[in-house]
Amino acid sequence: MSGEETNSGRRRFLTAATTTIGAIGTGFLLVPFVSSMQPSAKARAAAAPVRADISKLEPGQMIRVKWRGKPVWVVKRTQENLDMLSKRDSDLADPNSEISDQPSYAKNEDRSRKPEILVLVGICTHLGCSPTYRPDVAPADLGADWQGGFFCPCHGSRFDISGRVFKGMPAPTNLPVPPYRYLSEGEIVIGEDEETA
Ligand code: FES
Repeated sequence: MSGEETNSGRRRFLTAATTTIGAIGTGFLLVPFVSSMQPSAKARAAAAPVRADISKLEPGQMIRVKWRGKPVWVVKRTQENLDMLSKRDSDLADPNSEISDQPSYAKNEDRSRKPEILVLVGICTHLGCSPTYRPDVAPADLGADWQGGFFCPCHGSRFDISGRVFKGMPAPTNLPVPPYRYLSEGEIVIGEDEETA
């Protein structure tokens, strides 16, 4: 056998061996990669819709629910709260929630499916602090024109009792309304509605 034949046989062997190792290597790499793309049971549970029992909520009260790792507030508004909603439109940056992506039932002054029940993601749209619920009217620290709403202590953004931001605040948009729907008179599910189905 000539030296040239020996070399070409050796080259073929090396090529075949490299291809085989490459295929095995790809197989080894592929399995963990594909399995890493499957959401874990924990991740699926964290993203799942959550139910909230609102049957015992009294006017003026708020409950907190965690959905997708975020605080969600459910507030039962009073008739006085609702009566105020149409009186501050000229002071609000976006009274009908037209500049942010919101469920259709949030694009109005009460921003809810039933006027008395408000559901909001409790994260400030400025830099992500959690505003405080301040239903009190004209408290000393917020001033005489405060009619109840949400106040962000980080940089002072003010939101009305529908989570609508006032003009001139650091927060650029209203507090988000998550998708939700009623399961019964006393229970809602947060994280799904007929628009997201
Ligand atoms: S994070 Fe709320 S005002 Fe800045």
